[in-house]
Amino acid sequence: MPQKIKIIAVTNRKGGVGKSTMTTHIAAGLALAGLNVGIVDTDSQGHAGLMFGLPDENGLYEALILKKPLSEIVRLVPFTRYVEDDKMYTGGNLYVLPSSDLTYRVPYELQQHETFLFLEKLEELGDWLSLDVILIDTNPTLNMFDGAVYLAADAYIYVTECERLSMDGVKSAIEQMTRAQQQREKYLNRASQIMGIIPNKMRPSTTVHRSNISIIAEAFPSLVWSPVTLRTAWVEAANMQEMIYRYAPNGQECRDAYAIVTKTMEALRAQ
Ligand SMILES: Nc1ncnc2c1ncn2[C@@H]1O[C@H](COP(=O)(O)OP(=O)(O)OP(=O)(O)O)[C@@H](O)[C@H]1O
Ligand SMILES: [Mg+2]
Repeated sequence: MPQKIKIIAVTNRKGGVGKSTMTTHIAAGLALAGLNVGIVDTDSQGHAGLMFGLPDENGLYEALILKKPLSEIVRLVPFTRYVEDDKMYTGGNLYVLPSSDLTYRVPYELQQHETFLFLEKLEELGDWLSLDVILIDTNPTLNMFDGAVYLAADAYIYVTECERLSMDGVKSAIEQMTRAQQQREKYLNRASQIMGIIPNKMRPSTTVHRSNISIIAEAFPSLVWSPVTLRTAWVEAANMQEMIYRYAPNGQECRDAYAIVTKTMEALRAQ
């Protein structure tokens, strides 16, 4: 039996493909749809918090190593970062457990017996804030903390550019996840699943992009979601520390983002 999806890791072995952009937009989109959502950033670059204009903080390190209570380190994202018209806001809440430079020390400082601590913290976070879903923004490089993410995640959303190297990154990430599943099944008796693959930064008029999307869609039937087109507004919105829903509510970017949010909602409802 697959585990009911509560914790979703957004990942790819390749850097700069849009993991943090998609994590924050899926999370904010789900909050706009009325869900209570948490983001846990496991990347020491700390982009998830920064994209919402939150201060640069070591929440993950403080939770796992310093054992600080979540109430001191989890941040509520002001909805003014992702809502076009504040007065219309009737959505759920969005929270971030941020990361910063100390995150890289987490795997070295965790004790041997603390293998399950990350999962336990996520479950505590979910219970405390009545979260419907938690998204994990991951870092691009392999590290010792990956095992903790593999143990915790019920489902995966892979983000890829429409180029060969990025698609290969998805394939190797999926292979690695599949191997790691044996541990999760052994220790927790829980399976996990691939929720979807997002082709990002697509140039619709570029033949190689279209053909690469077909190739990955053949390799992973019915898992490839509608592509997100390459548009400067994504970079501009990040620069303003705003979500695209607020920065360009009438643009193609916003329609692309909502399509991804809808697919995520459908996958959550389908269980
Ligand atoms: N569809 C898009 N069109 C144009 N730019 C985009 C698009 N999606 C993301 N970007 C930009 O690409 C850059 C990298 O995105 P992002 O930081 O989300 O990637 P990442 O995979 O999280 O990177 P890292 O591996 O460093 O964590 C950012 O400047 C972002 O604004
Ligand atoms: Mg990132």
